Amino acid sequence: MPHPAALPLDPDPTFAELIAVRPHLSMHAMDGLLMEGVPLNAVADAVGTPAWVLSAGSIRGRLRALQLALAEAALPARVHYAVKANDHLAVLRLVAERGAGADVVSGGELRRALLGGITADRIVFSGVGKAEWELRLALEAGVGQINVESAEELAMLSEIAHAMGRTARVALRINPDVDAGTHAKITTGRADNKFGIAYGSAAALYAHAAALPGIEPVGLALHIGSQILSMAPFRAAYARVAELVRGLRAAGLPVHTVDCGGGLGIGYRDEPAASPAAFAGAIRATLGGMDLQLAVEPGRWLVGTAGLLLASAVLVKTTGARRFVVLDAAMNDLLRPAMYDAWHGIVPVSAADAARPVAPCDVVGPVCESGDTFARGRALPPLGHNARLAILDAGAYGSVMSSTYNARPLAAEVMVDGDRWSVIRARQPLEALWAGETIPDWLA
Ligand code: LLP
Repeated sequence: MPHPAALPLDPDPTFAELIAVRPHLSMHAMDGLLMEGVPLNAVADAVGTPAWVLSAGSIRGRLRALQLALAEAALPARVHYAVKANDHLAVLRLVAERGAGADVVSGGELRRALLGGITADRIVFSGVGKAEWELRLALEAGVGQINVESAEELAMLSEIAHAMGRTARVALRINPDVDAGTHAKITTGRADNKFGIAYGSAAALYAHAAALPGIEPVGLALHIGSQILSMAPFRAAYARVAELVRGLRAAGLPVHTVDCGGGLGIGYRDEPAASPAAFAGAIRATLGGMDLQLAVEPGRWLVGTAGLLLASAVLVKTTGARRFVVLDAAMNDLLRPAMYDAWHGIVPVSAADAARPVAPCDVVGPVCESGDTFARGRALPPLGHNARLAILDAGAYGSVMSSTYNARPLAAEVMVDGDRWSVIRARQPLEALWAGETIPDWLA
């Protein structure tokens, strides 16, 4: 671990650099950090901190860019937004408005997607362990496709669908055994991961599926991991699936669709984000011209950069050589740094703070764990009590992964659109933390 006073070899991007590559953010000399046309100070004054703030314009713009890139590559592909990245109903409404479908992984996400206005025929149900009630719910709702991940699940689905008098449109999720080159905790397409059906047994299972009651095999699916910045693993995985499609068709089995999964990475620090055009190019090079209906399932790329976590400094303390900025936000709010050692940009909300000379400090939360650390040795100006900071790129896998650990209520959520903004989830009242609990009589 570098000494805090040591000069970093690869200096972090400056506040101005972080803001410059995030078009929905800007620094105003008087109003401080703005999201679209809204001063974040005004949001914090009204709802307090910690608070999640999401840019509707950014989400819309990125969905449009992805849809355009797929269309320009002449790919018949629909975007199925991966609901797990941010499952707020307002986000789902935004993507529904632009004709996107959803990729869901639980009965709860399925209900959310429907409530958000995404029609059942545009919903794909993925996941390695769907419970019987979830499969039943999916069939009742009439979801467009169920991505099956094992022979065991296929048998269970056949039985349930047959008993309900329904036919499940099924894609087999293949494990292509490709290393996505991402963090070990979010890689999913290697043979030793729990996900998908082994490449070698997929063809036989597809043929078996075609003979099962209540099952109509329509195609294949894959998802090799998350926060992938290089196109090479996508190309390798899609090439393997294309080969499988050709083999199945040669054996007389119809294959109509391939679900290419998600995984497109974003630039958290200064790494170049995955480009939708390059992604579309990788799909076109491997699966284009095969008369396939295609789907992609991005989560992070659509909503990650759109959101930030607004926090205040509770205090700044110095112990030995280290300076700690203790925030009112913590790992229970944004888990990514603790869980994946993820780097998130941290920018002062006040323009005056952002202009002061910086010195390295550790940015931490108040939770009683050393892992409750947002950044170490981060260059920040001196911060007064209640100085506000924005933790960037928290729109994906942010609020959805929050917990109430240390009896900390779930933070408020706000959506910004141009000059207007609304609270889209009120801060959880403390009483809600124990509202569902009962003390047994026998303890009275
Ligand atoms: N489709 C499937 C089947 C998935 O499992 C996932 C993500 C996606 C699509 C969307 O992937 P994306 O485009 O967002 O990379 N909590 C972690 C990320 C976990 C991703 C799990 N699966 C993080 O904060 O980095």
